[in-house]
Formats: sequence, C-alpha cells, structure tokens
Amino acid sequence: MLRILLLIIGYFIGNIETGYIFGKIHKMDIRNYGSGNAGATNTLRVLGAKAGLVVFLGDFCKSLIPCLVVRFIFRDNVSLSYIYMLYIGLGVVLGHNFPFYLGFKGGKGVASTAGIIMALDIRIAVVCLIVFIITVAITRYVSLGSIFVMIILIGMSHFFVKFSYGFGEGASPMEFRLLTAAVGLLSIFMHRANIKRLLGGTENKIGKKVEK
Ligand code: G3P
Repeated sequence: MLRILLLIIGYFIGNIETGYIFGKIHKMDIRNYGSGNAGATNTLRVLGAKAGLVVFLGDFCKSLIPCLVVRFIFRDNVSLSYIYMLYIGLGVVLGHNFPFYLGFKGGKGVASTAGIIMALDIRIAVVCLIVFIITVAITRYVSLGSIFVMIILIGMSHFFVKFSYGFGEGASPMEFRLLTAAVGLLSIFMHRANIKRLLGGTENKIGKKVEK
C-alpha cells in the first residue's frame, strides 16, 4: 500500500540524523550534552549558532524535499498529494525521533515538522514562524515556541481543508486532520521533559551555552 511505503521511505530518510552526524564531526555524541537532544536547539547550545543553523537546515530539508517530490509526483490530484506528503513527512519525523541505528534516541522532530508545514502551505509556515519568533524572543524558551507551533499546525489543519483545497477524489479531510494531529502531538509528546521543566521553572533558556 502506497501510504505505508511512503511512511517507510520517510522513516529511512529521517534516520539521517544531522545533529548526531555534526556532533561526530566534532568527535562527540551530541546526545551526551545539554538536553541530550540530537536536534538544532541542542546543537546550538553545545556547538554554537552556525552549527545549530546547519543542523536546522539539514533536518528541515530532509522533510521538505521528500514532501515536495511527493507533491510533484501526485500533482494531478492536489488534495491526495497533501495526504501523501503527510505520510512521508510523518515517516521522516518518526525516523528522526527514533533512529534505529542510534538506539531509537534522536531528536524531537521540530525542524522536520517545520519542513512539512512549509511544503503544505507557506501561509501556515509564516504564521508558525511569527509565533515561534515572538514566543522565543519574549520567553527565551525554544521548547515553548516549538509547542506553540505544533498547536497551530493542529488547529490550522481544520481551516486548511475547509478553505484551501476541495478535498475529495480519494483524499479524506478526516485523514488529513488525523495525520496533522499525529505529527503535532508526536512532537508535543517528545517535549514532555521540556514541559515538566517549563512548569517547574527549570527549562533551559536560549543563549546559555553548556560545557563541551
Ligand atoms: O527543537 C527542540 C526544541 O524545541 C527543544 O530542544 O534541546 O531544549 O530539548 P531542547
């Protein structure tokens, strides 16, 4: 079945763990430092801004590019192409969060989810980016900005199917909503330790470097 195949292909692409690879280039396992996350925020925290940006772009592109390829292949049925993009995108996020060759310990899927959002609709991506920047600028908590992005993604998917494209021809609005909810809730679940720290007032603020 095509949906399962896209999920599996996505999973293997998601296993390209940019943060881990970048850490290895610096002769370290990034997961042993800072928050223990193999994502862009922790790379920024441990290895600096340039490294964080490279890892963000790597994780962002590894979902954006496959989603755009799927969108192109299935361009004759736009609404169905969105469903397929979500399958490959969800696969990438699962592969990123649970890489099989790293003991299933990877990142939290924020940059890869951002790539999916960008491929889905640039307007939703812009709203997410603005909310993210404002949240991080005010609170200095990247995790809080990430959680807000996931909430927006889940909420906006409703308006997306209602106003953007006529769903039909094998594409169900419910399937679209369930998939976006799965992507968003998965990332929120990955942030459970951050949520505990946020509630306890002990979450790491951006800009605070940790010892290598
Ligand atoms: O991109 C993940 C971010 O939201 C939180 O990262 O390292 O602070 O747990 P971290």
